[in-house]
Amino acid sequence: MSQQTKKSSNSNMTTIMVALVLCLVCSVMVSAVAVGLKSAQNKNKLLDLNKNILVAAGLFDPDKDTNADVEKRFAEFDVKLIDLQSGEYVTDEQLAAADISDVNTYDADQASKNKALSRDLGDDDPARIGATPKFAKVYIKSDAAGKPELVVLPIHGYGLWGTIYGFLTLEGDLNTIKGISWYAHKETPGLGARIEEKKWRDQWQGVPAYDKQGDVFVGVGKGKPIDGISGATITSRGVNNLVQFWLGDRGYKPFLEHLREGSSNTKATASTKQDLAAPTVSTVGEEA
Ligand SMILES: Cc1cc2nc3c(=O)[nH]c(=O)nc-3n(C[C@H](O)[C@H](O)[C@H](O)COP(=O)(O)O)c2cc1C
Repeated sequence: MSQQTKKSSNSNMTTIMVALVLCLVCSVMVSAVAVGLKSAQNKNKLLDLNKNILVAAGLFDPDKDTNADVEKRFAEFDVKLIDLQSGEYVTDEQLAAADISDVNTYDADQASKNKALSRDLGDDDPARIGATPKFAKVYIKSDAAGKPELVVLPIHGYGLWGTIYGFLTLEGDLNTIKGISWYAHKETPGLGARIEEKKWRDQWQGVPAYDKQGDVFVGVGKGKPIDGISGATITSRGVNNLVQFWLGDRGYKPFLEHLREGSSNTKATASTKQDLAAPTVSTVGEEA
């Protein structure tokens, strides 16, 4: 091998080595940053989720409320797990059997994807969610006497492009809607995404969830209490279907009936205040 060829091959080796070392250093740095930021990201996601709970409860003013206000106001809510089918609070035995160690870190969306922790809806699936979790989270703000003042219910269902996730709040009569909010969806800005607009969401306030017969009254679209969004008929229909589903027999209706009766099994203590230091972060809105 000539001196010239040897020199050029050495320089190629050096270039490859430098490139490899650079790649390694960069990947270690990117991983370190990703790991380092994870907890801050989780905390921000949780803060956003809690903010949306307060929005649905009419307790958040975007013009003046700070993150500290969100933390303080959210701390007034009890986080409880309910068995959707029975409508009762989940007992310690049920929690242990399902291997749920902390109500706060329980992720109902993940549970819906786990056969052991969910109920398949089969073909009768108007909200197009596939399955419901056996246990759902509810957020309750009570008065000094322990009577519920606000009950925030997580709701979700398919719109046009993907699953829409949000919260619906009922007042202490467990019928009058206080508000609605959305924290994840894939609808088009200016069309389906207009469900986020305050003006549209404001229509929900004061509308009864149920009629005198106990059937779901609230709905979206022609002849219903909430106007559909023009140019976004499919999203509007999706919201109608998901709200009606979650207020129905396979949603929160059994729980609300128990709560209305003030029965002892909905006074159980399977609850804790949610702690920002122990974030429960759902992966909602991250599906394909
Ligand atoms: C690029 C694009 C995005 C759209 N996004 C939405 C949407 O987010 N929600 C929705 O209901 N319809 C959306 N549509 C319209 C639907 O395809 C459909 O035409 C519409 O829901 C019919 O509503 P209308 O009867 O009120 O016009 C979109 C259409 C296009 C072309």
